[in-house]
Amino acid sequence: MKKLGILVSGRGSNMVAIADACEQGDLSASVELVISNNKDSLALVSAQEKNIKTAHIGSSNYPDPDALDMAMTDALNKHHIDLVLLAGYMKKIGPKVLSSYRGRIINIHPSLLPKFGGKGMFGINVHRAVLAAGEKESGVTIHLVDGEYDQGAILAQQTVSIAPNETSESLAAKVLKVEHVLFAETIQKIVDGSIILPSD
Ligand code: GAR
Repeated sequence: MKKLGILVSGRGSNMVAIADACEQGDLSASVELVISNNKDSLALVSAQEKNIKTAHIGSSNYPDPDALDMAMTDALNKHHIDLVLLAGYMKKIGPKVLSSYRGRIINIHPSLLPKFGGKGMFGINVHRAVLAAGEKESGVTIHLVDGEYDQGAILAQQTVSIAPNETSESLAAKVLKVEHVLFAETIQKIVDGSIILPSD
């Protein structure tokens, strides 16, 4: 049974989808720890309601980036985390977490990377940029994290078609629905060995 640590920043619907998949037996893993950089994140409340351990580790309580990196590494180690999932986590991962969990940190991004990734490309900004570029399709990418925003080996992608009258909000909702299924499915493939990570 793989132990998951999930990093979040806001609403946490992907974290809830992963935790639900574990509870329902669709994902042979357990969510051991949810960490948010934002103490007011709704995700922390949702995790607590599910009796998942939570931690607030952000720049307000760890102003020194090295101390933050160390606190996050310690928290993940203490809970014997096997895989670190970034589920709407909007900060860069520190070097200590990266080296301790190299090849075992997985991000979900709401576009077909390498398109519409990189700094500033998060949440609704991504969908606005996709529509402004006149794209006919968008989608979801799940990839390994290597220290740069939205780079690293792609593990899974799924496309979503864009309707002629699509708005950034309607596109966000369509993409999010796919995220909730694809994330758990991809983690299950890692767990059952159909996706092999470089760290294995
Ligand atoms: C999701 O759409 C996720 O793909 C995106 O933020 C949203 C978080 O929603 N992540 C990024 O944009 C990362 N660059 P959630 O908090 O409800 O899971």
